[in-house]
Amino acid sequence: MYHQQLDGFPKDFLWGAASAAYQVEGAWNEDGKGPSIWDHFAKIPGKTFEGTNGDVAVDHYHRYKEDVALMKEMGMKAYRFSVAWSRVLPDGEGEVNEAGLAFYEALVDELLANGVEPVLTLFHWDLPQALQDRYGGWESRKTADAFETYCRVLYERLGKKVKYWVTMNEQNVFIPLGYRWAAHPPAVTDLKRMYAANHIVNLANAKAIKLFHQLVPEGMIGPSFGYGPIYPLTADPNDVLAAENAEAFNNEWWLSVYCTGKYPRFLVKQLTELGLAPEILPEDRSLLEDAAARPDFLGVNYYHGGTVKTNRIAAPSDEEKEFSETDPYLMQPKDDQAQSPEVPMFNGVANPYLEKTAWGWEIDPVGFRVALRRLQSRYDLPLFITENGLGAVDELTEDGKIHDAYRVEYLRAHLLELQKAVTDGVEILGYCAWSYTDLLSWLNGYKKRYGFVYVDRNEQEEGQLTRIKKDSFYWYQQVIATNGVSLVENV
Ligand code: BG6
Repeated sequence: MYHQQLDGFPKDFLWGAASAAYQVEGAWNEDGKGPSIWDHFAKIPGKTFEGTNGDVAVDHYHRYKEDVALMKEMGMKAYRFSVAWSRVLPDGEGEVNEAGLAFYEALVDELLANGVEPVLTLFHWDLPQALQDRYGGWESRKTADAFETYCRVLYERLGKKVKYWVTMNEQNVFIPLGYRWAAHPPAVTDLKRMYAANHIVNLANAKAIKLFHQLVPEGMIGPSFGYGPIYPLTADPNDVLAAENAEAFNNEWWLSVYCTGKYPRFLVKQLTELGLAPEILPEDRSLLEDAAARPDFLGVNYYHGGTVKTNRIAAPSDEEKEFSETDPYLMQPKDDQAQSPEVPMFNGVANPYLEKTAWGWEIDPVGFRVALRRLQSRYDLPLFITENGLGAVDELTEDGKIHDAYRVEYLRAHLLELQKAVTDGVEILGYCAWSYTDLLSWLNGYKKRYGFVYVDRNEQEEGQLTRIKKDSFYWYQQVIATNGVSLVENV
């Protein structure tokens, strides 16, 4: 589509920013909170960057009022945060920890009192350790039942105050990283188990949405998916087919279940042939296909897409190898992986047209528009951008400021493409940049920063945790105040 003039952002557009409990809260064992799998995993030597863990993180648990005051100053319309399941149910199920629940209610009240719409994520990776120990975590259907119990507690307590809810954050990331690449807990490398655990999470997601529709009829709920569009490297039809295969493996496998209640047929056949398909019981199908289990919107976390070429039967070149080993989040099939069913079908390669961040993530604002267009036309749901941002090394300069012009440039380019997507006709509820304050990266410590608000903290746990507004803070403040009009000024 081409437009002489862009439409404005919708009147009630939710300009926001996001975080996740483990990455900001700290207070890991305070006020009755139980341990999560991340509290354990991060303390195993060698698992995280310089041994960082979330025991203190950026201390949001104690400083949430200060953080919300800054949100108000920025004019933020929405704040996406997650609830730590084991703060509310220390044992994963059973007894409710009133102090934990009260913390989230106080946070929600503080947000509402300051004109910020809460967007509550139910699961952002910090599974209660008790469920991992008792049931084997997401490998058991009992964990899906426990998730439903936990959701019920939150719906009953906060359903009248919180309108927007996210079920699972990036199931397509935490499942492969946890059960295939062993970069996240429970650090398994087994594809069969990965597909089985993934199915259980699909059931948990469906149960949570179904229950929500009963208990919070006025609200809206959906999963947040880490979507990246796949491009073929060339117009060679073999590359195009490779891209189709990669879309199926990397995206459709989840999106189709979420949005249609059905697993995609080509991939089911393929995985069945390979002996990797999950066991799907008749009652699972009824649950997944139940219209009440369909999301009201699709959350989209956009960082980058991927480019593929046709099958790689021979060993990869050094350049390809280097590319695939840059970052575990790129999740390219690796040769040393015991089973890599994708290898004969597609091979991830660098896109020759795109620059990369310091962490090797391709920077592709146009891909953002492509992503939104594809999702809207395939699934026809309203979209909510629940994450998008630039991870960079930020420097606190002598003037006591952070001049992050690179972040402004990144965000502006993405927001302009978002505006084009809106003008194309994509329905978008809001945009939550990743992240609000700087926070603990799961695997990159505090070196890789995303926030509008700098937090004085490093891997050695030094720093006073002081909050400092970056240049991007003031820039986003203007974007929000003008409902996006300032994006096109001074371009
Ligand atoms: C997303 C996650 O995958 O990426 C966030 O939802 C995460 O929790 C973000 O922090 C950025 O990842 P990283 O590794 O750059 O911190």
